[in-house]
Amino acid sequence: MTGDVVVSRSLRNRLAMILTGGAAVLAIVLFLVVRAYAAQIAQQGQDNILNASVSSILDAAVLRDGEVELDFPYAALSMLSTDADDRVFYAVYEDGALLSGYDGLDTQDDEAFRSMNYDGSTVRIATATRTLVGANVPRRVTVSVAQTQDALSGTLNRISTNVAVFGAGFFALATVLSFWATSTTIGQLRRLTTSVTRRGPQDLSPFTKPVPTEMGPLVGSLNNLMFRLDQSLKQSEEFIAEAAHRVRTPLATVRSYAEATFQRVENTENRDALRSMMRAIDESSRAAGQLLDHAMVTFRAENLDRIDVDLNDLLRDLVQRMTPVADMRDVDFILDAAAPAHLHGDPILLQNAFRNLIDNALKYAPADSIVTVRVQTAPDLSVSVTDQGKGFPPSEINKLADRFVRGSDTDGQIGSGLGLTIARDVAAAHGGALILSNRSEGGACATLQF
Ligand SMILES: Nc1ncnc2c1ncn2[C@@H]1O[C@H](COP(=O)(O)OP(=O)(O)OP(=O)(O)O)[C@@H](O)[C@H]1O
Ligand SMILES: [Mg+2]
Repeated sequence: MTGDVVVSRSLRNRLAMILTGGAAVLAIVLFLVVRAYAAQIAQQGQDNILNASVSSILDAAVLRDGEVELDFPYAALSMLSTDADDRVFYAVYEDGALLSGYDGLDTQDDEAFRSMNYDGSTVRIATATRTLVGANVPRRVTVSVAQTQDALSGTLNRISTNVAVFGAGFFALATVLSFWATSTTIGQLRRLTTSVTRRGPQDLSPFTKPVPTEMGPLVGSLNNLMFRLDQSLKQSEEFIAEAAHRVRTPLATVRSYAEATFQRVENTENRDALRSMMRAIDESSRAAGQLLDHAMVTFRAENLDRIDVDLNDLLRDLVQRMTPVADMRDVDFILDAAAPAHLHGDPILLQNAFRNLIDNALKYAPADSIVTVRVQTAPDLSVSVTDQGKGFPPSEINKLADRFVRGSDTDGQIGSGLGLTIARDVAAAHGGALILSNRSEGGACATLQF
């Protein structure tokens, strides 16, 4: 049946792909943002020190006799020392003319901090200006301090590595979480599927277990469908039962007329015809009775009327009631019930099933033989009916319990092929099974195992 279902891409894979794809994008964005932020903070740190250095040099500048004098504070450069031994350059200008330091540190007054290329390396340069006012004209002293960025790049690389590791960890965790979330979500669907597949073919009861909100409409439609299916099945079973019932009564009347006529008729041809007629009536009557029983079993199996059944009592009673039929064929019953055997089940159904098994034993076993009904409580509770006949036809044994299936060994016995079906359905309704086998010493053995 599943071959008929058209399937598209797996929901689980789709969900997992969206979630892991999202996690990957998030991890990359996280990496870029943190790296940019770290670079900004690291740069700010270098700028602050450069600024302090420039300020301390500017502070040392004084006007003496109208000349700018600068007693260079060496701490201003030593404060810039780094682990990576970054090179430091400085330049002091007086009114735009280089007073001391390295030439070529291009100064631009309007920018306090800049990055530029100097002496083959990228340097960060800080510049500040101070105006010294003396007796004469004011003097503009400008100081620039530059530093290479090896330590900064080192720090940035370290941060980048750490952030990359963190991002990869985040991605891995998000992937695991997304698989977990996907499995949990899909698990709900799988649970529903399992509970549908685990149901017996007769079980059309609605699903009552709670399902997630999103699955509510689906389960609702499923329940609706099963309700309608159940209704139409019930209707057809009811129809069969009703039809069987209606057929049985007139059949009984026809049978009694045929029998009465049979007593009066002397012509052999007519007697043969009447005999065939009575046999056909018996067949139909049996079929109607079995159909009625089968419909009853199907009804009750859905809603078992369970009580504590003493199997020994039930079987003793049944055997007693079937003894007259057995006596007619000189068959003796042995009821082998050693230990107390109790079952929480529907006594009417159980009796029906056992009656069909005993009926078969009486029908298919030879006259003057023994039929044994054995109740066992270990390893499982079981009731078996064995006879001394030919046994089940071995090649058909697997199909005999199917509806309307009769064996090739019936030897003209009347029957409709529903007896074993009834027994099997009753066993299934009680969570058990019907097991058919042939005994090595000869004879059939039908076991209802619970
Ligand atoms: N004890 C047995 N020994 C040999 N064959 C058996 C025995 N019981 C059942 N069978 C075979 O299994 C077939 C199915 O049995 P089942 O009871 O379902 O139908 P039936 O006896 O033919 O008809 P009915 O519905 O009237 O009982 C029988 O037709 C018969 O061939
Ligand atoms: Mg039968």
